[in-house]
Amino acid sequence: MNSISANLNIMIKASEKASKILIKDFGEIEKLQVSRKGPKDFVTNSDLKTEKIIIEELKKARPNYSILSEEEGIENNKDKNNTWVIDPIDGTLNYLHGVPHFAISIALKSHDQIIAGLIYDPIKDEMFYAEKNNGAYLNNQRIKVSKRNKIDDCLFVAGSKISFDKDPLIRISGCAALDMAYVAAGRYDGYFQKNLNLWDVAAGIIIVQEAGGILNEINLSSINDVKIIASNNSISNKFIEKLKNF
Ligand code: IPD
Ligand code: CA
Ligand code: CA
Repeated sequence: MNSISANLNIMIKASEKASKILIKDFGEIEKLQVSRKGPKDFVTNSDLKTEKIIIEELKKARPNYSILSEEEGIENNKDKNNTWVIDPIDGTLNYLHGVPHFAISIALKSHDQIIAGLIYDPIKDEMFYAEKNNGAYLNNQRIKVSKRNKIDDCLFVAGSKISFDKDPLIRISGCAALDMAYVAAGRYDGYFQKNLNLWDVAAGIIIVQEAGGILNEINLSSINDVKIIASNNSISNKFIEKLKNF
């Protein structure tokens, strides 16, 4: 097993604890699909509960770190140079509809760099993580981006808030965090999306980088207007060219 830092260990423990609620609630949500109103309120509540557990766990271990989370927003604490960036459920719409493709995403931003990231898909029990200069992993196995270098051989994934041509090689999954994780693992060859929030992709940024992927310039000081083009390094130039009007 690779060695991991104390901070990553804290992130793993927090995500594992929070995932228990998510898995339990997902079972209920599947049952609520058939009701007329659907599980909307229930899901909002799961989102809040999950985030609360993650924040409690992180704070127990690092009381001074600041926090940026989807539901709570910004919490500036004594240590303003270290910030946990949290999305308790990325892929809420999937979760709401009983589609098992969503994840917990936690990153650690230090000064203006993401230095650790974790994306946990509790349904498939897949935990993707990375730390700066220490490689990227899926359930303790090293991962690397794909080597495909011909557009026609590639499979790309995009976000749901963009319109694009009817290219059969482009998927929309509804979970930005897993889109990034899958690029890192070589499942997809590239991902692009704009109008993202930092918590959607903060963990994915370091995971893709540590898996040897290429990211466009990302301004981490922007919280609500993040644009990403991520891909393997062999297809990067052609992919960026294809997306020149994006
Ligand atoms: C959304 C997902 C989705 C992306 C949206 C995000 P949420 O996050 O990541 O894939 O297309 O832009 O807002 O709302 O499920 O946490
Ligand atoms: Ca979310
Ligand atoms: Ca999100």
